[in-house]
Amino acid sequence: MGTERFTPGNIIVTGGCGFIGSNFVRWVAKNHPQTHVTVLDALTYAGNVANIVGLPKSQVEFIHGNICDSDLLDRIVPGHDAIVNYAAESHNDNSIADPEPFIQSNIVGTYRLLEAARKYDLHYHQISTDEVYGDLALDDPGRFTPQSPYRPSSPYSASKASADMLVRAWHRTYGLKTTISNCSNNYGPYQHVEKFIPRQITNILDGIRPKLYGDGLNVRDWIHTEDHSSAVWAILTEGRIGETYLIGANGERSNLDVLRDILRMMGQPEDAFDWVRDRPGHDRRYAIDPTRLETELGWKPQHTDFESGLKQTIKWYTDNEGWWRPAKAATEAKYKEQGQ
Ligand code: NAD
Ligand code: TYD
Repeated sequence: MGTERFTPGNIIVTGGCGFIGSNFVRWVAKNHPQTHVTVLDALTYAGNVANIVGLPKSQVEFIHGNICDSDLLDRIVPGHDAIVNYAAESHNDNSIADPEPFIQSNIVGTYRLLEAARKYDLHYHQISTDEVYGDLALDDPGRFTPQSPYRPSSPYSASKASADMLVRAWHRTYGLKTTISNCSNNYGPYQHVEKFIPRQITNILDGIRPKLYGDGLNVRDWIHTEDHSSAVWAILTEGRIGETYLIGANGERSNLDVLRDILRMMGQPEDAFDWVRDRPGHDRRYAIDPTRLETELGWKPQHTDFESGLKQTIKWYTDNEGWWRPAKAATEAKYKEQGQ
């Protein structure tokens, strides 16, 4: 481990009521009780305050608001020492149906946060995705590295790529103390039922056949969200300013294999699913080379057994129907309209 160069005392976590942001808030509350966290979240369809309920009020404060609101940022940012920006529209299929909110939250929102960080002299960490690098062929021996060119495919990944470019420019031009992390596909509890793994688990629980896009051979590089959180903390506290770190846990798997795992673990025949219309522009394969994070910061994932992480995730959705039920019918109705 390198020496800790930044000890955050009072951070703003935007999007802290979403899937990954709330995991980070819970992770910090558990592992760094001396760090105060202000959660700023607009509570879109994907945000849920229940995700951070029960954390000590003295450590975690919730503010309902939008990252695009610069007057609000002027009121709440002073007195903090870092912004960690998880807030975003996060679902590719939604971005294809309606890109506008992605441009607003992901690009304009990042711009407003960068300006606030500059005005009040805060560290800034941008949560980004490996999808900014486009995709790889199934037979390509390579993986994404910090040197890979940006080649986003969807309105979602293009909006995240745009945001990364703004962060880099604010560092280079204004000297803002920034870091960026580009992480692979996350799984675990509290993920919205629109996403691949929770959608299929909750479909099976509801007696609906899971839906697989295209030929099902697309590969995603899965990481447990808890490992994403520990990596972000390492980068925030020890990462080199102005740098980009790729976060991944060697979890490449085809969608078909993941779906068969889920079906088997839930006592269903492995072919009990429907093939549905492919996603337009569907990226073929993502794969992360996390060498920089591992060698520079000594980070290692803890959840390296995907099958056991998947089993725990299935159990969480089985035990927490009250959490996902309110979103399920509307999500499936939207997919039905899209032929998916
Ligand atoms: P999510 O959709 O579950 O949560 C997003 C959160 O941001 C919600 O709580 C929502 O209310 C909030 N939000 C959205 N727009 C906002 C705005 N304008 N102002 C304030 N709050 C707003 O998303 P997630 O899957 O937890 O992803 C979080 C971040 O991680 C995103 O930046 C995403 O691009 C990135 N990421 C996700 C993955 C993945 O596998 N899901 C992988 C890599 C990176
Ligand atoms: P998703 O969870 O939307 O994440 P991303 O688009 O960021 O990779 O989808 C993961 C993969 O699963 C992606 O290749 C699309 C596919 N997919 C399906 O096959 N069926 C589904 O119902 C969904 C939602 C996704």
